[in-house]
Amino acid sequence: MIISSFLEELAKIEEQLSKQANSSRDDLEKMFLSSNGLFTLISKQITELDPNDRKTAGRSLNQLKTAIEAALAASTSTNAKDKRWIDLTMPGEQPTVGHIHPISQAMAEITGIFERVGFTRVRYPEVDWDWYAFESLNMSPSHPARDEWETFFVDQKADLEKGQVVLTPHTSNGQVREMERLGEPQIRMINIARCYRRQQDVTHTQMFHQFEGLVVDKGINIQHLKGTLDYFAEQFYGPGTKNRIRPFHFQFTEPSFEVDFSCHICSGTGEITKDGRVEKCRFCKSGWHEVGGCGMVHPNVLKAGGIDPDVYTGFAFGWGIERTYTLKKGLEIDDIRLLYSGDFKFLEQF
Ligand code: PHE
Repeated sequence: MIISSFLEELAKIEEQLSKQANSSRDDLEKMFLSSNGLFTLISKQITELDPNDRKTAGRSLNQLKTAIEAALAASTSTNAKDKRWIDLTMPGEQPTVGHIHPISQAMAEITGIFERVGFTRVRYPEVDWDWYAFESLNMSPSHPARDEWETFFVDQKADLEKGQVVLTPHTSNGQVREMERLGEPQIRMINIARCYRRQQDVTHTQMFHQFEGLVVDKGINIQHLKGTLDYFAEQFYGPGTKNRIRPFHFQFTEPSFEVDFSCHICSGTGEITKDGRVEKCRFCKSGWHEVGGCGMVHPNVLKAGGIDPDVYTGFAFGWGIERTYTLKKGLEIDDIRLLYSGDFKFLEQF
C-alpha cells in the first residue's frame, strides 16, 4: 500500500466521523473502534506501508484517534439515546428515614414537661436490690403488699443487708437512691426506667416503662402534689384535661391515692351523643382513666433515705408510660402490646 492512498482512506474515515455527531456512544464505538471498526482496520494496514512512511501515517492515525475520542466524550452528555446519559433534574430515589420509637417520644415529652418546672431526670438500676425495690419502701420481707408487684427474682446470691436481686417492678426503687445521692433535700426527681412484672394482656406487658416523680422539701403538702398532677394533665393531654385522686393504699406513701385523668373522648362525662342518642363512652366507660398511684412520702421511707421526717415532707407519684401514652388524643391504642410488635405498618404512623 502506498502512503497517499492510506491518507486518502483516513480522510474518508474522518469525514464519516464528522457526519456521526448525533450518534450514540455505543454506535460510535461499534463503527470505529470494534474489532472490525474503521479505525481498527486502517491502523492494521500501517504494516503494509513503506517503513519510511510509517511515521507520517502514525501521526495522522493519532489525530484521527483523538477526534474519535472527542466525539465519544461529547456523545455521553448530549446524546439522548445513550444509556449513560443522566438527567440531573430528575428527582432522586428517596432513602427510607426511620424515626424515634413512640415510647421514646413519650419519654422525651414527659421529661420535657417536668424539666420545665425544675425536676431533674435521673436513671437508676433496672436490676436492683430488694432493699430499694421493697424494704426501704416500708415493705418488710414477708409483707403481703409485695404481692401486688408480681416480681421477677434474679437467680443470684442474696446480700445479707440488701436482700435478693430483682428486676425492678416499679421506678419507686429510685426514691431512696435519690435521697442517698443528694443527702440533704431539696429533691425534685423524675426517674424514668424499664420495669418488669409477671403479667401480659392487652393493657400489660412484662417489660414496660414507668416514670416516677419525687419531691422532698420543707413544707411540701398535698396541694403541691395535686397542682403538679394538674399541670402534667394539661401539658400532656391538652388544655381542659382534669385529674382526680382517690384514696388508696401504698406502703410507701401516707396518705395514698390512685390517679385518674378525664377521658378526652367524652370530656369526663362517661357519655357520648351519637345520632341524637346518648351512649356510654366505649373508651373509658366512666369518664375517667386510671393510670397510677401517688401520695405523701411515708416517714419510714424518708428515714430509710437518711432524711428527718420531722423537718421534711414530700410527695411521690408513678405510673406506666405505655398506658399514659396510649390514652393520648388521636391515639386511643387499645392493645398495648402493639407498641412492641415491631410491626412497621403500626410504627410508621407515629
Ligand atoms: N410504685 C407504684 C406502682 O408501681 C406507684 C406509686 C409511685 C405510688 C409513687 C405512690 C407513689 O404501682
